[in-house]
Amino acid sequence: FHTPKPVNEPVLSYAPGSAEKKQLKEAIAAARSQQVDIPMYIGGEEVRTGNKHALSPPHDHQHILGYFHEGDASHVEQAIQAALNAKEAWENLAWEHRASIFLKAADLIAGPYRARLNAATMLGQSKNAYQAEIDSACEIIDFLRFNVHFMSQIYSQQPESSPGIWNRIEQRALEGFVFALTPFNFTAIAGNLPTAPAMMGNTVVWKPAYTQIYSAQVLMQVFREAGVPDGVINLIYVDGPAAGEIIFNHPDFAGIHFTGSTGVFQHIWRTIGQNIARYKGYPRIVGETGGKDFVIAHKSANARAFATALVRGAFEYQGQKCSAASRAYVPSNLWEEVKGYIIEDLKSIKMGGVEDFTNFFNAVIDEKSFDKIANYIEAARKDSKIKVVAGGRYDKSKGYFVEPTVLETADASSVTMCEEIFGPVLTIYVYHAENFEQTLELADKTSPYALTGALFAQDRYAIELGEKKLLHSAGNFYINDKPTGAVVGQQPFGGSRASGTNDKAGSMINLLRWVSPRVIKETF
Ligand code: NAD
Ligand code: ALA
Repeated sequence: FHTPKPVNEPVLSYAPGSAEKKQLKEAIAAARSQQVDIPMYIGGEEVRTGNKHALSPPHDHQHILGYFHEGDASHVEQAIQAALNAKEAWENLAWEHRASIFLKAADLIAGPYRARLNAATMLGQSKNAYQAEIDSACEIIDFLRFNVHFMSQIYSQQPESSPGIWNRIEQRALEGFVFALTPFNFTAIAGNLPTAPAMMGNTVVWKPAYTQIYSAQVLMQVFREAGVPDGVINLIYVDGPAAGEIIFNHPDFAGIHFTGSTGVFQHIWRTIGQNIARYKGYPRIVGETGGKDFVIAHKSANARAFATALVRGAFEYQGQKCSAASRAYVPSNLWEEVKGYIIEDLKSIKMGGVEDFTNFFNAVIDEKSFDKIANYIEAARKDSKIKVVAGGRYDKSKGYFVEPTVLETADASSVTMCEEIFGPVLTIYVYHAENFEQTLELADKTSPYALTGALFAQDRYAIELGEKKLLHSAGNFYINDKPTGAVVGQQPFGGSRASGTNDKAGSMINLLRWVSPRVIKETF
């Protein structure tokens, strides 16, 4: 049997005077007025080490939201042991009971925790109310509900049998523990990476990015209140390489569910390869990684729709979505019109703290990221082939603010057309309008990534050609829409090439990576 088919969680509007806006404002004020003390969670215990680090809003770095307790190697060992201790009871619990716990978690986020989790995402990661709502409310709720639905389908599938023979498939959890290593930029991804393997009967050690701990601890409280048993998900704050050192050397390491940068994932993959003989089995390696996402217009494209996609695709959440538009190919016949729209749109964008809901644009995540983006902008200024079309200024005196920046390059392989900057920088290459096919080939070859991409055209032949020529250029390909904003259950998300193992977060494909089926043939 299957669970009821889920529907996507509606996005609340936060319109002036709405109840949700009032609740969110109150949650933000409450969060700003206190300094929370954030423990790790190991085997159901709150662990406080006394090695405390401050957490601040990226848009207001002098304000302290709270302190988290950092752990060390001994806490990684404890978390692994707690996960192993919890394993037998958890994997033997009927899947319907595991499902119920995660459905309850979804309901808690949809209801009593919505404002608190959104406020934590807004303050901790500098997301505006809309970006928080689509992430730490709708997307994580959808991940939980859709994954439960997919898990019910997985557990219901059985092979054919015949008279005197009964064949069965048992969807066993992996043997050992799973490591969830999560990024800063989506609270939903941070929540999905430990819960997807846990749903399938695995127990998990979860290490978030330090810049996402403020919302991670709220998620952990939700999981506990929903009934996730002690030790099933263990949340630790330990330096990534130090945690990896212990985890990837452990004989019970059974798999990693990762989202983050390509360099880190490749390093992890190499480490796992070097240690392969230590493990009981071949660990599952699931990773969604970086992107250099393209938007291409054909000469028949609607210039207004294309420009909107560029502004939203490149600059929502300060360009810090793996799916963000970061290189665009514009045909010469449309460029002046598109440029006019972009400049006009950017003039109406307000930049500032998340507490003022009229600020569309907030800060980038931290100083390291700010400096990296500023360096790319300065290098572009010095490049004679590049013009700064809009933005280009930055200031970290109060928060890590970088203006939405548009560069126009005469060199299709300039650094900013090829490398992931992970900030609000969009580079545009204007091509001769008759060279569409060559431009598709160029876009395909320019970057090692293949996460998202978008094609704008009214001409059917151009769409068909684009689909063919860009076959391996993106795991999520959008026609006449921006490359961001995949919805769980509608556009399963993931990239190939240097962008990941393409196991489509929030899909049956992903959940199947967390089981190791046993087939039983019984004869009578
Ligand atoms: P990151 O790679 O810096 O960090 C990811 C996680 O790995 C963090 O928890 C970090 O502490 C940990 N880590 C870092 N170095 C480590 C090491 N040597 N050993 C073990 N752990 C280590 O990524 P980030 O800055 O948090 O997130 C941004 C990146 O994530 C971008 O590259 C973005 O494209 C990518 N991303 C991809 C997707 C996707 O679906 N493809 C989604 C979101 C983000
Ligand atoms: N799922 C996120 C998006 O599509 C990354 O923008």
